[in-house]
Amino acid sequence: MLILAPSLLAADFARLAEEVRAVERAGADRLHLDVMDGHFVPNLSFGIPVVAAIRRVTDLPLAVHLMIERPERHLAAFARAGADVLTVHVEAVRDAEEALRRIRSLGLRAGLALNPDTPVARLPAAALASADELLVMTVEPGFSGQAFRADVLPKLQELHERWADALTLVVDGGIDAQSAPLCVAAGARVLVAGSAIFQHPSADYGRALGEIRRAARVAAET
Ligand code: DX5
Ligand code: ZN
Repeated sequence: MLILAPSLLAADFARLAEEVRAVERAGADRLHLDVMDGHFVPNLSFGIPVVAAIRRVTDLPLAVHLMIERPERHLAAFARAGADVLTVHVEAVRDAEEALRRIRSLGLRAGLALNPDTPVARLPAAALASADELLVMTVEPGFSGQAFRADVLPKLQELHERWADALTLVVDGGIDAQSAPLCVAAGARVLVAGSAIFQHPSADYGRALGEIRRAARVAAET
């Protein structure tokens, strides 16, 4: 099964509730919320109160992507705010295994993320055993609207071959109807997309999601 997750970073923040409801009506399977601290990544986005506010206007699962240093300090607060999935970066966390166990103990799905240039060898096996999802960045984290990095595909394929039975592979960055099938063919099952949905030239989110879903399905079946 393919899961399409619009990233609200590319939405109109002045009309956030409307944007959330619009992608929900358009067939989104979950929402992807990018939290940035200006340290781990150069950009700042939003934090706990905004996640809690989004929780009040939708029943969709909320996957919170923590692009922050030492995310372990804030896990309980994001759980209280209503997150369903919490993803921490292997480059930003002190003890990945402990952080992932803590996320699970809060009753949430635990995700581990890695940057495009972080090798598979940086992922501790014990941490992978404590994770439910592995988020493979296909752009340098920090901003939406960047070009998809096809050089990450071999890493995705390798992770799929080694871990597909135990982990759901997520791709994030530059995902659209062109790159989605490449990622699905390499093993991804959750597709995060920001600008391909919220900046689609038609401004029709149903159409934007439909284009990605159709292209990805063909790759999933072959
Ligand atoms: C980037 C974020 C992504 C971003 C995706 O650091 O993690 O989730 O919003 O946006 P697009 O799909 O436009 O690359
Ligand atoms: Zn993200």
